Formats: sequence, C-alpha cells, structure tokens
Amino acid sequence: MSMNFAMPVAILLMVLAGASATAAQTLASPHPTVDPEVIARSDALADRFQQRLQTALRAAIAEQGLPGAVSVCSTLAPAIAAEESAASGARISRTAARSRNPAARVPRDVRKHYAALAAQPVEAGKPAVRVWRSGSGRSARITYLRAIPMMGQPCLSCHGPDIDPAVAARIAKLYPKDKATGFMPGELRGAMLVRWDAASIADGK
Ligand code: HEC
Repeated sequence: MSMNFAMPVAILLMVLAGASATAAQTLASPHPTVDPEVIARSDALADRFQQRLQTALRAAIAEQGLPGAVSVCSTLAPAIAAEESAASGARISRTAARSRNPAARVPRDVRKHYAALAAQPVEAGKPAVRVWRSGSGRSARITYLRAIPMMGQPCLSCHGPDIDPAVAARIAKLYPKDKATGFMPGELRGAMLVRWDAASIADGK
C-alpha cells in the first residue's frame, strides 16, 4: 500500500472509530462499523438458540413438571449453546448480571453494554440489541448482545419473586449461588451473547 493511499485510509479509520463511539452510546441501529451481514447472522443464531431453548423448556415442563424441568434445563441449556457454537463458528451463550449459572457472569468488557440493555430492555417493541467491534488484527472481534426481557409464565415459576418450594429446593441444590430470582416481567433477565473472532469474520464469511 503506497503512502498516499495509507493516509486517507488512516483518516477514514479515525472517522469510523468516532462513529462507533457514537453508536455505542445509543441503543439504536444501525451499527455503522459492523458488517450488516454479521448482524443478520447473529440475529438468526440468537433466534435459533432461543427457539431451541424454549422448545426444550416447554417439553421438559410438560414431561417432568417444573422441578424436573430445572434439572433438564441445567444440562440442556449449556449443551445447546455448545452445539450452536460449534455449528456456527461463533461463541453463543447467555449472560446475566444476576445469574443462575455462575458461568453466565457478564464479561468485564460487556458490562457497560449490558447496563444499557438493563436501562431499556425493549426498543420499538423488540428486545434491544447492541453490536460493537473491538480489537484489531488477530484479536479483532465483533460482539452482539441482545436483551432477554423477563416475561410472565413460565419464567415467573423459576425466576420470579414467589417460587414454589419444590422448585426452589431443586434450584438451591443445583445452583447454590443462584441470584436469578425476584424478577418482574419487563425487567432485563439476561442477554444473548454472540461473539465472532477474527477468523470467523474474515473473508466475508
Ligand atoms: C423450569 C424452570 C425455568 C423456567 C420456567 C425458566 N428458566 Fe431460565 N433458567 C433456569 C435454569 C435452571 C437456568 C440455568 C441454566 C444453565 O445452567 O445454563 C436458567 C437460566 C436462564 C438464563 C441464563 C442466565 C442465567 O441466569 O444463568 C436466562 C437469561 C433465563 N434463564 C431466562 C428465562 C426466561 C426469559 C424464561 C421464560 C421464558 C425462563 N428463563 C424460564 C430455569 C428456568
């Protein structure tokens, strides 16, 4: 790359960096520095993960009742996340400030974005989304974070303020450090976290 080409590129990158700082302050799309295709793929992946979790949860409640469904969830949710990650090349998981699974703790670099979702979990009738780019070269990464708002039933049975003793006992046994109760509909229960590393976002893949 010649010098007279490098200069405008450097300026363009500075402008884009400025645009990204602005985008990070508002919840609204679009996300000017992130390829819309990566956002679309993240959306689809988060939808699919959520769909599979909901189907598994519904089946578990129907077949085993709520206390049994707690146990089913505890093995199926991480297994589905691992499968979807392997199949997509992204790392998909759920994260929460007040989590049930201690592994779902919000990563340090995600906290301020999570706080923005907590302040406004729903936007224009849909779960709020934040997308940003960080790092460069081999440590470049795109992160997609989508709110999971607390809803009514069945969520309340396992995350609400008033939990049946049999369900509470099962939760306490599997998750002695559980922090994921006491939620009311409309609050932020957690978020879908999709992370694409440099290798998975190269070559427009
Ligand atoms: C049968 C009980 C049960 C029901 C009903 C239920 N959950 Fe959960 N939830 C769990 C368990 C158990 C985990 C921990 C799973 C794990 O170990 O990954 C969990 C984890 C989560 C997490 C991941 C973060 C964390 O705290 O570990 C979110 C987000 C979440 N639930 C949201 C919801 C929402 C929204 C609903 C309603 C659609 C719901 N849950 C219904 C039992 C339940």
